[in-house]
Parts: sequence; structure tokens; C-alpha cells
Amino acid sequence: MSTPEQNNFQAIISHAKEYGFVFPSSEIYDGLSAVYDYGPYGSELKKNIKDYWWKSMTQLHENIVGIDAAIFMHPTTWKASGHVDNFSDPMIDNKDSQKRYRVDHLIEGFAETLTAKGETEKAESILSQMDTLLAAEDYASLKKLIEENKISCPISGTCNWTDIRQFNLMFDTKLGSVTDEADTIYLRPETAQGIFVNFLNVQKTARMKIPFGIAQTGKAFRNEIVARQFIFRMREFEQMEMQFFVRPGTEGEWYQYWKEARLQWHLSLGIDAKKYRYHDHVKLAHYAKEACDIEFEFPFGFKEVEGIHSRSDFDLTQHQLFSKKKMQYFDADVDASTGKPYGNYVPYVVETSIGLDRMFLLILSNAYHEETITKEDGTTDSRTVLHIPAKIAPNKLAILPLTKKDGLPEIARALTDECKPFFKCFYEEKDAIGKRYRRQDAIGTPFCVTIDHQSKEDNSVTIRYRDSMLQERVPLNKIKEIVLKEIS
Ligand code: GAP
Repeated sequence: MSTPEQNNFQAIISHAKEYGFVFPSSEIYDGLSAVYDYGPYGSELKKNIKDYWWKSMTQLHENIVGIDAAIFMHPTTWKASGHVDNFSDPMIDNKDSQKRYRVDHLIEGFAETLTAKGETEKAESILSQMDTLLAAEDYASLKKLIEENKISCPISGTCNWTDIRQFNLMFDTKLGSVTDEADTIYLRPETAQGIFVNFLNVQKTARMKIPFGIAQTGKAFRNEIVARQFIFRMREFEQMEMQFFVRPGTEGEWYQYWKEARLQWHLSLGIDAKKYRYHDHVKLAHYAKEACDIEFEFPFGFKEVEGIHSRSDFDLTQHQLFSKKKMQYFDADVDASTGKPYGNYVPYVVETSIGLDRMFLLILSNAYHEETITKEDGTTDSRTVLHIPAKIAPNKLAILPLTKKDGLPEIARALTDECKPFFKCFYEEKDAIGKRYRRQDAIGTPFCVTIDHQSKEDNSVTIRYRDSMLQERVPLNKIKEIVLKEIS
């Protein structure tokens, strides 16, 4: 039996497809697992989220600049970064269904079913045993945990498992036509390395002084074995990452700064603070000094949307070692304790890394509401509405002449021409006005303007607000200003 949360999540996925936000990739061939395409409203929303992040990084911070590095990188990059040797997950195969699972996902899925049955304590105990065994890389005991709890394959229903093995998550391909080993290159699993290898190019050409940041958005690829929960975990996805280069010894305060600043960025979209929480990592990667996730309450529970990582000088030092090129910065500022300049050093890095698709899912699931409306005469109606923050909504203003004649479309067209250089407008003449309002609610348009016969008399129009459904009569020549104020 499915829970109300699962039903709600299914409704969000259906809504995303029906209203042109997200489609399964190559759907006419039955789709490709964990790969998705963004439709007309989805691509607008995704771009708006990306722009909102990009501006907050590179426009509101004078000491952050952007780059756009290639997806393909020299293969040694991934040797140096540790991804060739360490970017793997423990997997287990079911011998009957031939399906492969990530061990933690398999056990988490089982724990979720226990929780749904009210066996919360048992679920928590299994998860905590799993955490300990994963940290110790004790795969024999992990397999025992699966067998003892009779965790079965969702496809075959059997517990006929292989041993647990590590699988690398990077996709590889060949450069050029020669197929020998040396030409194997990888689709980047994170955008961050494109920033590290360009550290000095950027520092010198943009004349950056420490502390400074380099921001980048772009595609990343991971061969996630079990990709679940719609666009939450994909094989091709987009990241928005920023590496902040600091003087060694100051990384602790910068880590705290970015931890707080990134949460404030999320809250600046007007989303309820109660839906967010930090999850500080207890088990740290060998190079990390501190790390935390910003988690959001998705319809399937609190999950990571963004990571803040204090990465020490690990990446730059590794690239220095493998490339034999200096990755150092000369700091001319004077150290008060010695009275001498800080001199040459490999900077420390604090990273902020957020998944664009995951942020999209956050916005969509937070925005989706099925509402019952009580009308003035006491009767009820219902609507499905996306309460997307106005500043990132796909369409900002729908312009709707009440009828297709009597000069109303001409007034509406003139308003569209006036507004469209400033924000995205949507023009529509067809269908009853109530039906048109519902369609705009469903795609999250924050403002609708209706031009009626009175508009011809006194140049006034009706503006309707999506969230409150309030309607107000305002001068036609004030519309652009009202919308600009609300979305800025
Ligand atoms: N450079 C650090 C890094 O890549 P990560 O925690 O592996 O860190 C950062 O990824 C963010 O990228 C995550 O918080 C998540 O939002 C997003 N992300 C990671 N894997 C993803 C996947 N398979 N599908 C969608 N988003 C993903």
C-alpha cells in the first residue's frame, strides 16, 4: 500500500510531465533509466534557478568569477583527484534477476518499508549497523546483515545474492578512433576538477587576490547503479559548484561563512526554514577537514540537496604532484605575527556544491499543491497550483484578453510588446477566463492580467495574483512596474 507522501510524489511526477516540465528521455523508445529531458516550462525554470545561483555567486560577490570548462578532461585529472581509484560504491547482484544494487540503497529501501509498517526502531537499528559496516568497509558483515534480515530483490523476490564488490561510477569513452587503453577518457563525475586545473589561469587573468572563488555550472555524469526518485538521482545531471580559495589556517571561518551563506540563499527564495536542516558529516573523506549537507524535506523525507566541504589543499597538491606544475599562489600581504609577507603557498579550498536538477525537484515539490477553494456562494472548487517563487517562475505574466474581438487583443498585444523585453510573458485568447487561470496556476505563473471592455473605457485592467487568487483593478500602464517590483 502506498503512503500519502508517495501518492503526492507520484502526482508531482505526473504533473511535471503533463505540463511540460520534465519528460522521460527518449520516451518513444520507452525511456532511458535515470535520464530525463526538460520541457518548455521545465527548461525555463531550470535556467532561472541556474541564473539565480550564478548571479548570487558572480554578481553579488566581487571576489568570485565564473568559468565554463569542458566536460572531457585529460585522464590524469581523475587519477590525481582520486576518482579512478576511489570513486566507487559497494554493489551486490541478485543472481536470479541479474539486477545490481547499491548496497546502501537496498538496505535503506528495506528500512523504509519497515518504517512504513511502524517498525521504526528496527529500521533505525539496521541503518545504524549499515553505517558502521560501510565506514569499516566490512563487506562480508554487510552481506550477512542483508541475509539475516531476509532483504530480497524487488524484482525476483529472492535473497540469492552475490558477494559485495566495488564498482566505479565514472563513465568512460574513447578519444579518437584508436581503442587502446591510453585513449580512455571519462565523462566528468563532478565539475569541480575543471576549476582546480584552471586555478592559476583564472587567478592570473582575472587578477584575483586570495580569498577568491571560481564558480561553474555544467553537466556531470555518474553511472548510478540504482537511480531512483525521479530527477533526485540521475546518471546525467547538472551541478552548480564554487571553489573558494583561502589562506591556510582561515579555512575554518570560511567554511562557517559558506555554510551559513548557502542556507541563506535557499531561504531567500521564500521557502519555509523548517523544511531545511544541516547534516554534519561524521565520517570525513581522507582530505576533508569538515563537511556538511544542506538537507531538504522532499516528499520522500529529508535528503541532501547541497554539500559544503572544507577540502584542504588536497586537490591542488595532487594536481601539482601529477602535472609537475606549481599550483601555488604568492601572497604579498604581511603576516602580523612575523612581520613578513605570507609568500608562496598552495591555497586551501572551501567548496559549495549543489545539484541543479535536485534544486529543481526541491522547487517543484515545495510548490505543488492541490487546493480546495470555497467560493462566495459557498460552493467548492479545486485547483492544482505551483507556488513557484515569482522570481524564478517560468512565465512571469499571462496576458489574457477576455474576448478575441472588440479591440481587446490589440490592447493585450501592446502590453505584451511593452513587457516582453523585461520578463517572460504568455499571451492567450482561447477558452473561458476561469479555465485560463487554472492553466496558469498549474504552470506556476504568478500574475495574470485580464483585459476587458472596461479597459477600453478607462485604461484599467484586472491583475490576478496566483497565490491569494485576489483580483485587483489597476491602471494598464502600471502592470510592468508591478511585476518588475515583485520579481526583482
Ligand atoms: N564536488 C563535490 C561533489 O560532487 P557530491 O556530494 O558528490 O559532491 C554534490 O555532489 C551535489 O550534486 C549533491 O549535493 C547533489 O545535489 C548533486 N548530485 C550528486 N549526484 C547526483 C545525481 N546522481 N543526480 C542528481 N544530482 C546529484
